[in-house]
Amino acid sequence: MLENNKDNIIKTTDITKVYRIGAIKVNALRGINLEIRRGEFVAVMGPSGSGKSTLMNIIGCLDVPTSGQYYLNNMDISKLNDNQLANIRNKEVGFVFQTFNLLSRTNVYGNVELPMIYSKDRIINKKKKILDAIRSVGLTEWIRHRPNELSGGEKQRVAIARALLNQPSIILADEPTGNLDSVTGEEIMAIFQKLNSEGKTIIVVTHELDIARHTHKIIYLRDGIIHGQEKVKNQVSAEEKLKKMPKL
Ligand SMILES: Nc1ncnc2c1ncn2[C@@H]1O[C@H](COP(=O)(O)OP(=O)(O)OP(=O)(O)O)[C@@H](O)[C@H]1O
Ligand SMILES: [Mg+2]
Repeated sequence: MLENNKDNIIKTTDITKVYRIGAIKVNALRGINLEIRRGEFVAVMGPSGSGKSTLMNIIGCLDVPTSGQYYLNNMDISKLNDNQLANIRNKEVGFVFQTFNLLSRTNVYGNVELPMIYSKDRIINKKKKILDAIRSVGLTEWIRHRPNELSGGEKQRVAIARALLNQPSIILADEPTGNLDSVTGEEIMAIFQKLNSEGKTIIVVTHELDIARHTHKIIYLRDGIIHGQEKVKNQVSAEEKLKKMPKL
């Protein structure tokens, strides 16, 4: 399929999403046209209810649009069935959420391992890949600990390691710093900046302009449409900012 520019990892045309609750219709997205290039780091901002999570769910193949086209890595996602969607999601997308979404009864290793358990492919060097992902977020010492023994920032790092495990082409983070204090939030943004500098495409939803200014581009949503996009001048470096912040 060649409808898309090959540098675009994500392209949407006129995406709408209508939720139906009984007789009530909610127009959550009302025509989204978006292009994101491979290796970009993008923030999505907008008031509560503007459609940010709905858009992330579609980009992450957790849901399909009501109308419009979505191309991920040049694949037309709008035409896939649930099984195909789950397969693409497992291979291409790593999710990070505000509430971490870790399993409380298993340790760091077990939580990071999860995407491999769901994967249909035979995985070579499984253990090494899990250990590498844990090391890349600096949690090797915590590998046998369960989530209730970790701080919020450590939990979020587990979630990032899990998101990285299948080497997805995009990382989607919906308010990843929403439950964290500002120093810990910077630490998480430092990890995202490092991953982005290594080539990962990352989309972060945030309410905070301070967080959004760590990315390359801010997309503003309102009432289910994009009403502005802005290139970030002087991208904030989380590493630099952390040097000036008090240690906890
Ligand atoms: N599963 C659903 N069923 C029905 N309506 C929904 C559903 N999910 C979202 N909505 C509605 O769609 C609209 C967009 O919701 P969405 O969660 O995408 O907003 P958001 O920008 O992520 O908000 P927030 O900043 O509060 O997380 C809202 O009006 C919401 O009530
Ligand atoms: Mg949301």
